[in-house]
Amino acid sequence: MTLYDLVAPGLETRGEPRYRIAEIRAADPLAADGLLAAVPVMNETADVAALTVALRALMPDADRAADWSVVEALAAMRDIGILLGSLKRHGVQPVAAVPEVLPVLELLAQRTDMVPRDTVHHYTTWNPLGARRRTYTGHPMEADLQDAVRMTFPSLVAALETCGRLARLEPYDPGFSIALDRTAQYVQSMVDSIDFTLAHVTPEYFATVLRPYFEDIDVAGHAYLGPAAAQVPLWLVDLTLWQCDRSNPEYDGFLQDSVQYSLPSWRAFHARHAGGVSAVSKLSAAFSWESGHHVPPQLTASALSLARVLRILKTFRARHIGIARKAYSDELRQYDQGSGGAPVALLRSILDLTRENETLVRAPRAPRAHRGPREDRS
Ligand code: HEM
Repeated sequence: MTLYDLVAPGLETRGEPRYRIAEIRAADPLAADGLLAAVPVMNETADVAALTVALRALMPDADRAADWSVVEALAAMRDIGILLGSLKRHGVQPVAAVPEVLPVLELLAQRTDMVPRDTVHHYTTWNPLGARRRTYTGHPMEADLQDAVRMTFPSLVAALETCGRLARLEPYDPGFSIALDRTAQYVQSMVDSIDFTLAHVTPEYFATVLRPYFEDIDVAGHAYLGPAAAQVPLWLVDLTLWQCDRSNPEYDGFLQDSVQYSLPSWRAFHARHAGGVSAVSKLSAAFSWESGHHVPPQLTASALSLARVLRILKTFRARHIGIARKAYSDELRQYDQGSGGAPVALLRSILDLTRENETLVRAPRAPRAHRGPREDRS
């Protein structure tokens, strides 16, 4: 049994339509199954005319679209999205080529409270499996990359809860290390995801075939990025662990641009915690307070748990940067920026920040006499 099996059924019952994954995958509100199955061939032959006709053919009747549930609207955006990325890959701005798509994108954005184009969630989590899977190329490596990203979604939903709890606790509280240990379990899915990618997707395939489909498109004067893995909101975890008060301008800027591509409740989480005090800062303050004295066992436990999560994040980032460097090497790269809008150099700086924060909490001070819990001393 995988983590997905454990967490996904719980997701379906939380009343959030965006977590009704099975229903979204099953939905085909534009009756697009047959047409989208032909897209890989259209892309292979760079048949812009056929892609344009296909996009036009998918356009729904405005009254019908206005009646769609959130589940149906998400599925419709997913299906239109495959054609948006395909046209752009062949150098065509889709909204300019098919202007009637603009009001539909705006309507779907409004109905789903998301950006007016498809995101990584549409392309992976909400994408059907099997014969109905939507892809640009039909290549097994594209499906593998989708699945690699797909497997992180339930864990990140679960981490949202544990990180939210963590933000309300102090490191002297036993709940602090419990929340971190649960988070560690969830974040492990990022390592599994990148290991799966390394085993199944070559940097050559990504760089030369897939990457061009993730280019940004223009929607009413705004550039919206394609469904990049970089939009996977690992920042939810960083935010409460260290990012909210121990970041750098590059990562802050990247997050500022990335948050818009996530789900409404995740954006709300970001807004709630962005100005907060991070777990690393709380722990550092507690250790300064205890400086020269016996460190309470709970504080040591909290430090160990925090270091463990940061180590897992570091492992993900160290392996991830390996494939990213190859895909954006001088020999392979067609673009200077990643599909998430940032250069590979950003990954180095996030990895360094993760390392620095791990080093900060790794080694609790040498013990002397115990001064009792902090609350008793105010
Ligand atoms: C061929 C495989 C991959 C390549 C070449 C690649 C490349 C990159 C690059 C260049 C960035 C910098 C930002 C940007 O894209 O503009 C990035 C960011 C990111 N990627 Fe990937 N990536 C790959 C697969 C994955 C997978 C499978 C995941 C797992 C979900 C993932 C998760 C992330 C995350 C979370 C970020 C934001 C930065 C961070 O938190 O460290 N990537 N990726």
